[in-house]
Amino acid sequence: MKGIILAGGTATRLFPLTVTTSKQLLPVYDRQMIFYPLNNLIKAGIKNILIIVSPEHSGQFLNLLGSIFEKYGIYLEFKVQKVPKGLADAFVIGESFIDNNNVAMILGDNIFEDNFYEAVKNFKGGGKIFAKQVKDPKRFGMVEFDKDRKVVSIEEKPALPKSNYAVTGVYVYDNRVVDVAKSLKPSDRGEVEVTDINNWYLKQGELEVAKVEGEWLDAGTFDSLLEAGNIVKDKGLYKNFDPLIDKAIEEYNIELKRLAKKKLK
Ligand code: DAU
Repeated sequence: MKGIILAGGTATRLFPLTVTTSKQLLPVYDRQMIFYPLNNLIKAGIKNILIIVSPEHSGQFLNLLGSIFEKYGIYLEFKVQKVPKGLADAFVIGESFIDNNNVAMILGDNIFEDNFYEAVKNFKGGGKIFAKQVKDPKRFGMVEFDKDRKVVSIEEKPALPKSNYAVTGVYVYDNRVVDVAKSLKPSDRGEVEVTDINNWYLKQGELEVAKVEGEWLDAGTFDSLLEAGNIVKDKGLYKNFDPLIDKAIEEYNIELKRLAKKKLK
């Protein structure tokens, strides 16, 4: 299983914060947002991870993450998405990285308390997505159920939501996802939609929908960013990091402090 973190986009809702850096590099309590999805993939046992970034902030991602994990057996690659064409574009950009493997993608601004280790380990094929009940269903991809609670479709930001189960930003697919993504046409909002990938797997009868049990935060607005930091602190989610992440950050901090002292001399 390979991993992708989608961390590009323009994040206009967070202007002017995202003029100077990428949304996924903004702080959530004591570390940059990107460490949260990275933690989910590492804890799921994934060692090869592609981080897709925007051209403007690519150097900052490389400075932060470029060389701190390799000695722990975690290999990161970076690719630039020139234009934010949509979530499904990740599998087109990632084609050669994915090669003939399965792939788990996580959005760079999603924070999960859940551990996806079992879901990844037991993945046999098809598509697997993770849903959570929300209060504001018009903001998300939503799972539509029939009267027997069977999933009938996934709708992207429906005007009239048919359930309150949102599709969260973590997705596991078999290798066919690359061809499915390549075949998609942009939606009415001009994006290639991950929702269309999910509906393709659903049509094949191969889409599994699991529930997210713990916290799920999407830190894309001022309020949700602040709320994410508060929940991470109050519920102690900052203690849930894989020890190798804490170690790598600690070593990086020591190195930065050493360099800063040198400059002062
Ligand atoms: O957060 C879960 C939701 O994420 C799902 O329920 C929706 O089905 C899905 O479409 C997506 O909706 P959003 O409107 O929240 O997606 P957003 O445009 O905010 O993009 C999510 C992340 O992906 C964000 O960190 C920016 C990044 N991104 C987005 C696009 C469109 C890219 O890197 N490239 C892109 O082309």
